[in-house]
Amino acid sequence: EGDIITIPVVVHVIYRNSNENISDAQILSQIQVLNDDFRRLNSDADNTWSQAADTQIQFCMASVDPNGNATNGITRKSSTRTSWGTNDAMKSSSQGGVDPWDTSQYLNMWVCNIGGGILGYAQFPGGSAATDGVVMSPQYFGSSAGGSGFYLSAPFDLGRTTTHEVGHYLNLRHIWGDGGCSVDDFVSDTPTSDGANYGCATGHVSCGSTDMVQNYMDYSDDSCMNLFTQGQKDRMRAVLEPGGVRRSL
Ligand code: ARG
Ligand code: ZN
Ligand code: CA
Repeated sequence: EGDIITIPVVVHVIYRNSNENISDAQILSQIQVLNDDFRRLNSDADNTWSQAADTQIQFCMASVDPNGNATNGITRKSSTRTSWGTNDAMKSSSQGGVDPWDTSQYLNMWVCNIGGGILGYAQFPGGSAATDGVVMSPQYFGSSAGGSGFYLSAPFDLGRTTTHEVGHYLNLRHIWGDGGCSVDDFVSDTPTSDGANYGCATGHVSCGSTDMVQNYMDYSDDSCMNLFTQGQKDRMRAVLEPGGVRRSL
């Protein structure tokens, strides 16, 4: 328990067409979702699980760039590349992408078409600084578009993929531990599960208990998810607090 931690975010938009060049409004809608979800201010929060927690972690668009100049926290780059895959090319100017801003000071998010049906991916704490951050495909980034950039794709159109990826960025594993009942997510108050849940499988039982399909770290549809637990909060805050890998943020 402790203070509210605010993480500055820079969003690097790399686009091939106007759909991929998402609007500032769409970007801000994603920051709003992150703040609502991490502070448990999301309007769909329910009382199914008593261990649901306000993580006391919040996000803001960066207001100062690495050179000390004012910024809105958004960079934009036009590219001819149609899809980027998951080999981190979008994070490197020498490969046609955009280099990260100092990853000890900012949470870097790249928004570009990943392709291959991948919604987003993230790097866990402790990896290479050159590739640290979260990558999202534009059609899953944010919860509303506004202006001309409308490009959101149901059932992953409520911004929860980014909530999930930032969970990974802050050291959370998938709730089923990426394995069977003997594999854990290293969080004691999330029930053990034998695999991912899709759609909204409320009440699904595995490993002798009801799965927490409403958890942001399952694979449920965006509209089904609504919580992080106290144990997940503690695990995320451990990397942000003194002694943690992301303490400098
Ligand atoms: N497949 C992605 C991952 O494992 C994200 C899944 C997000 N799910 C969602 N309902 N938005 O990191
Ligand atoms: Zn994941
Ligand atoms: Ca667990």
